[in-house]
Amino acid sequence: MSAESISVLLVEDDDLYAQVLRAALAKSTPKVGVERRRTLADAITQLQATRFDAVLLDLNLPDSAGLDTIGRMLAAAPGIPIVVLTATAESDLAVAAVQHGAQDYLVKSETDSRYLSRALRYAIERAGFQAELVNREQQFRALIERAHDIVVLLGLDGSIRYQSPATERVLGYSPEELVGANVLEIVHPDDRERAAGILADWPHEEQSPDPLAPFKVRHKDGTWRVMEAAGRSVDSTDPMQGMILNARDVTERVRAQEKLLETEAKLRQAHKMEAVGRLAGGIAHDFNNVLTAIYGYADLLLEEFVAGDPRRSDVEEIRRMAERAATLTRQLLAFSRQQMLQPQILDLNIVIEEVQRMLARMIGTDIQLFFEPSRELWPVKADRGQIEQVLMNLGGNARDAMPEGGSLTIRTSNRELAASEAGAMDGLAPGDYVAMSVTDTGVGMPEQVRRHVFEPFFTTKAQGEGTGLGLATIYGIVKQSGGGIFVESEENKGTTFTIFLPRIAPDLATSSP
Ligand SMILES: Nc1ncnc2c1ncn2[C@@H]1O[C@H](COP(=O)(O)OP(=O)(O)OP(=O)(O)O)[C@@H](O)[C@H]1O
Ligand SMILES: [Mg+2]
Repeated sequence: MSAESISVLLVEDDDLYAQVLRAALAKSTPKVGVERRRTLADAITQLQATRFDAVLLDLNLPDSAGLDTIGRMLAAAPGIPIVVLTATAESDLAVAAVQHGAQDYLVKSETDSRYLSRALRYAIERAGFQAELVNREQQFRALIERAHDIVVLLGLDGSIRYQSPATERVLGYSPEELVGANVLEIVHPDDRERAAGILADWPHEEQSPDPLAPFKVRHKDGTWRVMEAAGRSVDSTDPMQGMILNARDVTERVRAQEKLLETEAKLRQAHKMEAVGRLAGGIAHDFNNVLTAIYGYADLLLEEFVAGDPRRSDVEEIRRMAERAATLTRQLLAFSRQQMLQPQILDLNIVIEEVQRMLARMIGTDIQLFFEPSRELWPVKADRGQIEQVLMNLGGNARDAMPEGGSLTIRTSNRELAASEAGAMDGLAPGDYVAMSVTDTGVGMPEQVRRHVFEPFFTTKAQGEGTGLGLATIYGIVKQSGGGIFVESEENKGTTFTIFLPRIAPDLATSSP
C-alpha cells in the first residue's frame, strides 16, 4: 500500500456486482486499483504472480464455497489481508470469517466509496500489526528456546510452570516433564533449605542476589550438576506473579577450580617437604662432623685407660650414644636425599622374599604376614639396603598400629600410569611403574594425621617412643629413586602405603649385572 494507491484483487463471479464495486472504488481516495478474477484458482494464480495489498473475496465462487475459501486463499498467500463480501449482514458468518483469518467483511449492498476504502485500509493495517506480532513472538520465543542457559518460570511456591528446551540438553528432562513439579524436588538436600529460603523471601524481593551461589541439581540420570542461577520477578510491579529463573551448568568450571586448589595444595606440600629436607640435611651434615669429633676424642680417651679401669665403660657409653646419634643423622640425610646411593637393578619380589624373615621376627607372632607377589614383575633400579629399610620402617609402623594383632600384607604389581592418573599423584610422570603396597589391619589414621605423616619429626607416639623419622626417611628414599609414595587410611579401617618405583628400561635391565 502506498500513500497514493491501494492494489486490490477482487475475487467475484457476479459481473454486475463487480461492476458496481469497481465504479465505487474508482471514486475513492486514496486510489484503489482493482484486478478481478472469477474463480479461486485464477485468483490464487494471480496472487502468486503479483503483489496485492488486499483481497476482496466472495465466499461462493464456481470452484469454492463457504469459509473454506478463506483458508485456501490464506494457504496460497499467507498473511494477505482479506475482506469478505457477503450478500446480507449475517453477523454469524462475518464473525466466523474473521475467526478463519479474514480481517473484515463488507455487505454487498454497501457501495459508498469512503466506507469501502476505509474498510480496506483498516484491513491492511490490522494484517500488518498481526504480522508484526507474530514476528515478535517468534523472536522472543527463539530468545528463550534457543538460549544456551535454562529458563524456567516458577510460581511463588516453587512449582515449575515452564521449562525451556535447554533443560533437556543440560539436565536430561524432556519438554514439559518438570512442569507441575516443585523445583525443590530436584535441588540437592544440602542446598534445599537455602533454595526454600529464597522462595519464601521472594514476594519481598524484586530480584535475587545476582547470581545466586551455585546449587546442586539432579540430572535425570541421577547425577548432580552444579548450577548457577539468577532470578527475576515476572512482573516488577507485582512479584506475586512468580519468577523467571535463568540457570547455567557450571559443573565443569567448579570441578576445574577444585582440581586447581588440590594441585596447589599438593605443590605447597611438596615445596614444604623440600624446604624441610634441605634444612634437615644441612643440620645433619654439620652434626655428623661434630659426631666424628666426639668419636675421635672418645677413642683417644679409651686408649688412655688400661683394661679394667672403671671409667672405660663411661667412655664406651659416650661412644654408643654417639653411634645412636649417627643413626639418626643417617635417617635425616636419607630424608633430605643427600645419602650416597648404591643403586642396582632389582627384582622387588626377591628383595621382599629375603626381608620377610626379618620382618616376621620384628612384627611378632600375633600379626600374620602375607606376601602376594605379582608374576613377571618389571625390574627397578634402587639401593637394595634402602628398599630393605623402607620395608622395615613400614613393618614397624604397622606393628605399632596393631597392638592386638592383625595381618600385614605386602603386594607387588606392574602399573602403567596414564597422564590422567599420574597427574593426580603428586609429581609422578606418566609411564610404567612397579608398585609395592603394604597393608595392615590396624588402627588407621584420621585425616589430620594422614596429612602430615611424611613430615620429619611428625609422630603421634609418646615422647621417646618414636622420632617421627620413619616415613620421612622412606619419602626421601622413594623420591630420590624417582618414585612416589601414597597413603590410604581411615580410622579403624587399617592403612595401606603404596610405593611406585619407575620401571627400568628393558635394555638397561639386561645389560647390567
Ligand atoms: N601403619 C600405620 N597405621 C597407623 N598410623 C600410622 C601408620 N604408619 C604411620 N602412622 C602414623 O604416622 C606417624 C609417623 O610415622 P613415622 O614412621 O614417620 O614416625 P613414628 O613411627 O612415629 O616414629 P619412628 O621415627 O620411630 O618411625 C606415626 O606416629 C603414626 O601416627
Ligand atoms: Mg615409624
